[in-house]
Amino acid sequence: MSSENTENFEYTGNMLDRVLVLEMVRVTEAAAVAASSWIGRGDEKAADAAAVEAMRMAFNDLYMDGTVVIGEGERDEAPMLYIGEKVGGAPGKGPKIDIALDPLEGTTITAKAGPNSLAVLAAAEEGCLLNAPDVYMDKIACGPGYSPDIVNLDKSVTENVTAVAQEKGVKPSDIIVCVLDRPRHDKIIAELREIGCGIVLIPDGDVAGVIATTNPETTIDIYMGSGGAPEGVLAAAALRCVGGQFKGRLLFRNDDERGRARKWGIEDLDKIYDLTELAKGDCIFAATGVTDGSLLSGVKKLRGGVMTTDSVVMRSSSGTVRWVKGEHKIK
Ligand code: FBP
Repeated sequence: MSSENTENFEYTGNMLDRVLVLEMVRVTEAAAVAASSWIGRGDEKAADAAAVEAMRMAFNDLYMDGTVVIGEGERDEAPMLYIGEKVGGAPGKGPKIDIALDPLEGTTITAKAGPNSLAVLAAAEEGCLLNAPDVYMDKIACGPGYSPDIVNLDKSVTENVTAVAQEKGVKPSDIIVCVLDRPRHDKIIAELREIGCGIVLIPDGDVAGVIATTNPETTIDIYMGSGGAPEGVLAAAALRCVGGQFKGRLLFRNDDERGRARKWGIEDLDKIYDLTELAKGDCIFAATGVTDGSLLSGVKKLRGGVMTTDSVVMRSSSGTVRWVKGEHKIK
């Protein structure tokens, strides 16, 4: 925007600034590049810390009055990017933006050089992202083009698979389901095996797993199983932009977790959340690949001091999805 245009530009306050949408990619790029030095180095904490610090610094360059609503933990647990922390270079002046972030989604994957780790964030106007506590969430998702509520957390695995198969015009055994490889999913996996479904078992990284349902190239039709609630909000923001369905229900293991949810204003602990209850209004989703995956390629260090990044940024109000390839000179 020229300086002349800047003078005439008035922030109307009812939609996210378009410039901010693109700027979000710089933030996820910075985190991914920082984490990439730790790919395959076996040190999850160092990889995460590098991504957190780089993301925190990159936020300072954005003209916004941001607040972390989903972050690295509560104030006393995390030195940076904790819930409630103010981020952005224009506190008190810029647009008020709520941010859900995971500077390194897939710390173990990164440490082991596995697939699908991402630097990821979602942004929306103040109050539009669910303040999800760091508990588990039961999740089910499918891609776009199906009748509303085709996937349902109150239905059995078989009922969900059958419903999707019927609308897709295939046999239930042709349906491909992505599930996190965890012992707690043994029952789901057994039921899927009984039907004869293809199962894509992922070691970690269910944000990418949920988004994979929206990309026909992955062949994944449904995502199901439990994972982090914060990751559920991030994935929901992405699906708000590209289409698809997602349902999530918080899972609590003890009273402490229930107490934390109530502290964040959640009263109905059994509620099943739909996409717009997790991420409402105009929202942005941005991600940069750290390691290669179904959504994005990972960071590559080339000869001659150049690093390449692969990112995506999407906005729900326009439905625009931008794929951004970056070449960065290593200083
Ligand atoms: P981290 O990046 O925090 O390690 O999260 C990775 C992840 O696989 C998420 O994608 C997923 O939601 C969650 O962990 C599942 O939790 P758990 O490993 O306890 O089953």
